[in-house]
Amino acid sequence: MLTYHDRQLHLNGHALAPLAYGVATPFYVYSLDAVLQRARAFQQAFPRAWLAFALKANRHLPLLRALAAAGLGADVVSLGEWRAALAAGFPPARIVVNGNAKSDALLRAAIAAGVASINLDAAEELPRVVDAARAVGRRAAVAVRVNPGLDVHTHPHLQVAARGSHFGVPLTRLVEVAQTIARTPELAWQGIHLHPGSQLLQPEDWHAWGRAARAAITRLRAAGLPVPQVNWGGGLGITYTEEPDPTPADLAAVLLPYVADLGVERHIFEPGRYLVARAGVLVVRVVQVKRAWGRRFVAVDGGMNALLRPALYGARHRVWPVVQGEPNGPATVVGPNCESADVLARDVPLPEDLGPGDLLAVLDAGAYGATMANGYNARPLPAELLV
Ligand code: LLP
Repeated sequence: MLTYHDRQLHLNGHALAPLAYGVATPFYVYSLDAVLQRARAFQQAFPRAWLAFALKANRHLPLLRALAAAGLGADVVSLGEWRAALAAGFPPARIVVNGNAKSDALLRAAIAAGVASINLDAAEELPRVVDAARAVGRRAAVAVRVNPGLDVHTHPHLQVAARGSHFGVPLTRLVEVAQTIARTPELAWQGIHLHPGSQLLQPEDWHAWGRAARAAITRLRAAGLPVPQVNWGGGLGITYTEEPDPTPADLAAVLLPYVADLGVERHIFEPGRYLVARAGVLVVRVVQVKRAWGRRFVAVDGGMNALLRPALYGARHRVWPVVQGEPNGPATVVGPNCESADVLARDVPLPEDLGPGDLLAVLDAGAYGATMANGYNARPLPAELLV
C-alpha cells in the first residue's frame, strides 16, 4: 500500500510529496480505499455482526462519513465523539456508548436519540443511567461491560480488562448488576460487552477472550438471564512492521466457536486500530540534522505533539523518506519539543544526504495519531487529509 514509484513515496497510489505543497507539515493523510477494504474484510469474517467503529482511533469527519455510508456504526466515549458520530451520519441505533466516566449530558443525549447500547461500566453507574432515562422519557438499552481479569500480551496501558483495572464490572458482580438491569423498567437488557484490551496479536489472547465471554454468558444463563447480544469490543492488532497482520477471519475462527451454542443473536465489534492504522501516515519535515555522540539526529517539525505513541508506549513506527535516496544509514528521528521523550524513531535507516526541508513519512499512524495529538509547546494540531 506504501510504495515507491520513480523514487516518490505513494500511499495507495497517491504521491505524498505534492500534498505538502498545499498543507503545512506535520499532517496526516489517510487512504479511504485502505480503510474500506479492511472494513469489508472484517464484515465478511463476522457476517452476523455489525461494526461500531471506535472513534477514539480516528475521528476525521470525511473518513467517518464514508464509514457511515458503508453501513458501519460507531463507538463513542464522549459528547465530542457523540457529536462527531451524528455529524458523520451514523444512525443512533448503530451507535454504542462506552466509558468509565460518561457525563450526564452524554447519557441523556444518547438515550434520547435511541442508541443501540449504553455499555455500563459499573454498578455505581446504574442510578445515573436510570436518572438520564427518566429525564428524557425514554428507555435505555443497556449492556454490561465485563471485566474478566484477562492478562493479555500488550502494553500495560492497553490492558483494560485485567484484574485491578478501573474498567468494567468484575465477573463476581456481573449477575447482580445484570439482574438489576433486567428488572428496572427504565432499562432494556441487551447483553454483555467484553473489550479485552488493545493491540492483541496472539491467538492465545484471543482464546482467553473467547473463554471469558463463554464464562460470563454461562453465569448469566445459569441465573436465568439470556444473553441476546455480545459486544466483543475492539482489540485486533497490527504488526507495525512488514510482517502481515492477523486477519479478522483468523480471529473469527477462534472466537465464534466459544459462544456458538449459547443463544447469542447479535454480535457487535468495535474495531479501531485494525481498520485505520495501516491506512494513514504522518508527514513531517526535516528542520535540522545534527551529528553528536556518534549518532545522527534528524530533527523534524512534528514529534510527541503530533504522534504521541512512541513517547507514551514506546511504540515503534517505521519512518521512510518521502523521496528515496541512497545510501541509507541509521538515524534517530526526534521531534521539536523540549524533552527527551520526544523521539519518534530510533535507529531507522534513512538517506545519508537527508537535510532541512526534506519530508519523512511515519508509517501506520492512522489510528491513535491525530486523535491523541496535542498542543504541547504551543504547536498547532496537525491537519488531516483523506485521499
Ligand atoms: N472499544 C473500547 C471499549 C475500547 O476501549 C477500545 C480502545 C476500542 C473499542 C478499540 O480498540 P482497538 O480496536 O483500536 O484496539 N491509544 C492506544 C490505544 C488505546 C485503546 C483504548 N481502547 C494506542 O495508541 O495504541
